[in-house]
Amino acid sequence: MQGNQSAENSFPEADYLPEHDYQVPASLPGRDYLVSNRLAGRDYLRMLDLTPEDLFLLLDTAAIEKARWQADPDTAQSQAPYRGRAVGIILEKPSLRTRVSFERAVSRLGAQPIVMSDTSSAFSRGESLKDTMMVMDRYVDAIVIRSFAQSRVEELAFWAEVPVVNALTDDFHPCQGLADFMTIRECFGKLSGLKLAYLGDGSNNMAHTYLEGGALLGMQVAIAAPVDYQPKPQYLAEASAMAKQTGAELLVTDSPEEALAGADVVITDAWASMGFEAEHTQRMAALAPYQVTAASFAQASDQAIFLHCLPAHRGEEVTDEVMDADYSRIYVEAENRMHAQQALLLLLMQAG
Ligand code: CP
Ligand code: NVA
Repeated sequence: MQGNQSAENSFPEADYLPEHDYQVPASLPGRDYLVSNRLAGRDYLRMLDLTPEDLFLLLDTAAIEKARWQADPDTAQSQAPYRGRAVGIILEKPSLRTRVSFERAVSRLGAQPIVMSDTSSAFSRGESLKDTMMVMDRYVDAIVIRSFAQSRVEELAFWAEVPVVNALTDDFHPCQGLADFMTIRECFGKLSGLKLAYLGDGSNNMAHTYLEGGALLGMQVAIAAPVDYQPKPQYLAEASAMAKQTGAELLVTDSPEEALAGADVVITDAWASMGFEAEHTQRMAALAPYQVTAASFAQASDQAIFLHCLPAHRGEEVTDEVMDADYSRIYVEAENRMHAQQALLLLLMQAG
């Protein structure tokens, strides 16, 4: 977004200081409190675009919207707030969850999703980012983009006047982060103080996202990865600066045991992310000690849950036994993509 926008937040600030025992109110609030919300008109390119207060507003809204739809889908749809509006969804990498959950979220808000993927993507003919965005701005009310370099999405957001949402880059996957922290909160009723252990490729988009989200939420985040696959120093430093403000604790180690000890949440992700498939063989060898198995999971706390953003490569980063265990929450995690993104667009697309 060109220039800065500051939106007056008419909702009592104190209600969005980090609180740790959130329950969806039995009587669901209307959406009046969102008028001139603090996120209106903004971009969402990485979790550190948010303050802790912003993130709690998002997570609370996601929980309320999920409950609203579960309680009475007909009424929820009839009250859809964004009829006549549209969201462009540009996918430069494959997707199942992101595409379908965004299409459903946009439809639930009453708006029209317009998906451009692969060869029909806006950029497949080499048109410049500026020209593409100056045109898209005139058609749609928000843009969701899955791409490669973070800098590409940042440049795109610079040219677009409408809110831009990062639906995965090589470095971050902040929409997945929203769904994951929403899922953890549903399971434990809190986030602050919980320990999240991530095993595997510590240099990818999910590892960076957990560092940032955990830092904002006052959690303990332990990334266990071989030295060649650890988080980018710049991102670790930025997350650490946030952690100092919230009391979060961030640890990067090459020891899976150290990360798993006492963990409440155990997470892994593909060893070769999209765009890195050519490195598959060398990554298999380096990352094998970080596979999540029933035996390694047993080192976590007794009430620990397992998450994976999916798609999983069963038998590589995680075994079938863990994927299908009672403690696995992978499918509700995938469902929560839709609720979290619905909340995100509800807030970002509101007139400032
Ligand atoms: N987790 C996730 O983003 O899945 P897709 O790649 O299928 O969208
Ligand atoms: N790290 C994975 C996440 C897929 C949703 C990838 O980028 O391929």
